[in-house]
Amino acid sequence: MTPPSDGRRFDPSPAFTERANVSDGSIYEEFEQNWPECWERAADLLEWQEEYDTVLDESDAPFYEWFPDGELNASYNCVDRHVEEGRKNHAAIRWEGKLGDRRTYTYQDLYREVNEFAAALRGLGVEEDDVVTIYLPMIPELPIAMLACARIGAPHSVVFAGFSADALATRMKSADSEHLITCDGYYRRGNAFDQKSKADNALLDLDASATTVVVDRLDESVGHVLADRQHDYRELIRSRAGVTVEPVVRDAGDVLFVMYTSGTTGDPKGVVHSTGGYLAYSAWTTQTVLDVKPEDTYWCSADIGWITGHSYGVYGPLALGTTSVMYEGSPDYPDRSRLWEIIERNAVDVFYTAPTAIRAFMKWGQQYPDRHDLSSLRLLGTVGEPINPRAWQWYYEHVGNGECPIVDTWWQTETGGMMVTTLPGVGTMKPGSAGPPLPGISIEVVDEEGEPVPTGESGYLTVDRPWPGMLRSLSDDDQFFEEYWSRFSDPDNDEWVYFSGDGARIDEDGYVTVLGRVDDVLNVSGHRLGTMEIESAVVDVEGVAEAAVVVGRQGGHGGTVHAYASTEHGYEGDGELREQIVAGVEDAIGPFARPDRVIFTPELPKTRSGKIMRRLLEDIANEEELGDTSTLRNPEVVGEIEAAGRED
Ligand code: WTA
Repeated sequence: MTPPSDGRRFDPSPAFTERANVSDGSIYEEFEQNWPECWERAADLLEWQEEYDTVLDESDAPFYEWFPDGELNASYNCVDRHVEEGRKNHAAIRWEGKLGDRRTYTYQDLYREVNEFAAALRGLGVEEDDVVTIYLPMIPELPIAMLACARIGAPHSVVFAGFSADALATRMKSADSEHLITCDGYYRRGNAFDQKSKADNALLDLDASATTVVVDRLDESVGHVLADRQHDYRELIRSRAGVTVEPVVRDAGDVLFVMYTSGTTGDPKGVVHSTGGYLAYSAWTTQTVLDVKPEDTYWCSADIGWITGHSYGVYGPLALGTTSVMYEGSPDYPDRSRLWEIIERNAVDVFYTAPTAIRAFMKWGQQYPDRHDLSSLRLLGTVGEPINPRAWQWYYEHVGNGECPIVDTWWQTETGGMMVTTLPGVGTMKPGSAGPPLPGISIEVVDEEGEPVPTGESGYLTVDRPWPGMLRSLSDDDQFFEEYWSRFSDPDNDEWVYFSGDGARIDEDGYVTVLGRVDDVLNVSGHRLGTMEIESAVVDVEGVAEAAVVVGRQGGHGGTVHAYASTEHGYEGDGELREQIVAGVEDAIGPFARPDRVIFTPELPKTRSGKIMRRLLEDIANEEELGDTSTLRNPEVVGEIEAAGRED
């Protein structure tokens, strides 16, 4: 196995650089000299109904306002203007269904359906600033619903379709959302899954009744019944055939969407993104980092239920008027060639995926990509977690044929778009290290006191200057301040430093290597989960006294969830309780958060002040040398936990 960093370097080929959207490294200097006006470059990619005069208003920091006096509509920018520019027959979305079905939406098709659905939503009483929850799998109606909401100025809150009824209800309540768009069900590996009963269960949990739109995704053999206030999507569209809706003029700072993500507290946080700054930043990074051109066919494989799918599956590519591929299925159904076959058939130019997927491809073997003509690919990207050099090189050789640069992009739900990565036509790639901060972005790795650490040493990854894609707030302003700005800022001197929650180090060339989360957020195979969220689901199970959850990362894998639990008096830590714990997590969050291992222990390791020492459990889970255990109140428990782990 290749060691974590083998020191190899790769440069983009002259063939790539010649055609790249950005090939001149002077952009870094230019942005530095001209900050924050440099961000006009991003805003200029959009069409504004009212041009902005001010680029950045810092007076209410950390509630920064980008392009504060500008006005625009995101749906207009992603749809109408491409139609008006004579590109109405250009493909906007190429959709590949799970069962081999396909649909293409041109910009004209998109225009038509987005308008009809926007009219329908209005007809159902959705008003400007009402939050519409969208609980759909990867079907074209998902981006259409998002754009329809944006058109009428209703922020959307997309909840990943794999979340449970409980998780959906929590998010709807938190956002005060009284409108839901869902479907009857969806296909997974050829089987039909019921989505509507999950949605119905969530609705039962709400205080007020919600208006619901149901997309009929499954074939006739799987019927569903619509209750009062539940409407069929197709019928709504049909009843508004040909109707258009004037895009609502939104202030740049108005909310485009809310996206719930896990934080350090139990409840998921509603990350609020603005219309102007967010859209400008997702378009600019799509153009600059993913090198997307309007004539490209581009594929971001992330589910739109997460931020990557929002920024790089929907808003970035559609704002640029390119063709975005959307795939409903899994990468190994009907067989392990599925993705390569889609790339070949659609002649995909740029492919953006996650390291966890790449590691699965590697395991399956190179014969699958080798069997397909992938020569249309020009650029590859990754996001979601650090990519180990071995996976990087496999991706480079077997998918990119040694010719496509790879952008390893570090960013977060909160940052709205990419923050750290090489520019593909400019920077040397160092597998395992994401790269330098993007032009205009200022990253500092600091110690506990907020002082920059020396080159090569690890510390906390912070951003000490605002950027257009940044979250506007959380649904709770106090929490916004607490989560991101309280740790390293100096409010008395009006110095605001954003804390990402990640650890990192910076090398002598200014390249950032991201080391992973240092807070109570888990990153499991590209899904972001909170320890508290999972732990509270585990302790809700009858018989469980206490629980702690950590991530196991053996063998360089994307991570597995290990739940340590102690039982209440009179309960046995047996197979039955283990099953109940797994089911409890599935009900509270969703199957993707299911613990891979449940280990019963008489007690959890605690400090003298009674805090659970998760770090120690993490070392045990990963069979690493244990750090200092002398601060434990109950050091004898360590041996017992290790033994329990071996027995399990
Ligand atoms: C991790 C996904 C290393 C990181 C866009 C971050 C990464 C969290 C990378 C955000 C990368 C994302 N290298 N780690 N290239 N990209 N991460 O909010 O821990 O789902 O804080 O956003 O993923 O996850 P989120």
